[in-house]
Amino acid sequence: MRVNLENLQDKEKTQEINFVGVNFKENISLSKRYEDYLIQNESTNPDILLSLYPDCVVIGTPLDPLLALDNLNQRNGFSRCSGRIFAGNYLTQGEDQFLLEIQDILPLNSRVRVHCYPPTYSKQLLDNLDLSKVLKENSVLITPSTPTHLLVALLLDNSRVCWGVYTDTEYKERIARPGDGDPNHVFSINFNKAQAKIAESVQLLSETEKKFLFDEELLVVDVGAAPGGWSAYLAALSQVSVISVDPAELEPNLLNLPNLRHLKLKAEDVVGGCPTPLQVSAAQLCGENWTRKYRLLICDANLDVRDSVRDLVLPLTSDLLPGGILVITLKLGRRVGEEGILRKVEAVKRLLITAGIEEVSIRTVWLFSNSKNERTVLARKPFL
Ligand SMILES: C[S@@+](CC[C@H](N)C(=O)[O-])C[C@H]1O[C@@H](n2cnc3c(N)ncnc32)[C@H](O)[C@@H]1O
Repeated sequence: MRVNLENLQDKEKTQEINFVGVNFKENISLSKRYEDYLIQNESTNPDILLSLYPDCVVIGTPLDPLLALDNLNQRNGFSRCSGRIFAGNYLTQGEDQFLLEIQDILPLNSRVRVHCYPPTYSKQLLDNLDLSKVLKENSVLITPSTPTHLLVALLLDNSRVCWGVYTDTEYKERIARPGDGDPNHVFSINFNKAQAKIAESVQLLSETEKKFLFDEELLVVDVGAAPGGWSAYLAALSQVSVISVDPAELEPNLLNLPNLRHLKLKAEDVVGGCPTPLQVSAAQLCGENWTRKYRLLICDANLDVRDSVRDLVLPLTSDLLPGGILVITLKLGRRVGEEGILRKVEAVKRLLITAGIEEVSIRTVWLFSNSKNERTVLARKPFL
């Protein structure tokens, strides 16, 4: 809802500033990821960083805030890992001033849900709104049940409030996290927590890499596949077949998929012999020209990073088509510390380079869906 600033009680004290924000569980690892994502995203303006707290980032946007949120929400994991998501258009100097302004702005006969930050401000604002005579006269009810409108209000550094008012439809369709207020919501990525990692990794590949993978029939080898989140995600895409390598059981419904085979072996045991168990399985699943289709190797095995790259992943790259893509979760272990993480990531990079993977193609990313002690490596086997 846009407001005519001329109608405000003290128009000098309110500026139009489009902003978006997100709050999340306070921990350093999530705040680093949200900070990087929001500051580097094309839909935001990093020069207007309104707030950067350990559990909340609020930033200006040159776009309509709802459009900016649509763009930010494209990234898998963005809304899933968050608490509330905020949008708004105004910044008012002073909490009392904001209270004066908002009483006149909330529509007559409306029922208003309030989203506040920080949580301590929420109670204070709700109490003040409940006491407002103007709101009573205007038959405005502050309530989370069957609301018609959403009031967003974030108190920054105890003196400025950035805020916005939206209809309930705008809230439900563009601001709410998927599943908010709906206990029966079915998420599109719903197999297990791990599944979001592969969805997010695929998003982060370049357009050329995505084209190389998905424009023609593709065979994926999924190492450490059980119970099957990554395999299920990829097997659901068109023209994709999957060989799931894991000594553990896959979810039974995956075993009925015509485009998926489970090699119930350790990855070390699918590469010995001539032909290897992997080659036999690939030919059965994709025909004799399977070598042209094998362009994606993914690994989420829960071993120490160096072991999983050296012993599980690299032996499987020899059949991978030149130009083929690698997606590997690096499980860095607990209590490794920042230096330990850097050391392990560097060791993995060296292993990949020694095995002939081009250094420029190796990207280490910290996905929203990674845990605190995980990173994901994306890399590409060189073309001949
Ligand atoms: C975190 S789970 C993988 C989850 C999977 N990505 C998903 O989406 O369901 C790690 C898996 O790695 C497997 N694993 C560990 N060592 C392995 C090895 N040497 N070869 C193949 N799989 C292995 C484990 O059996 C386990 O099922």
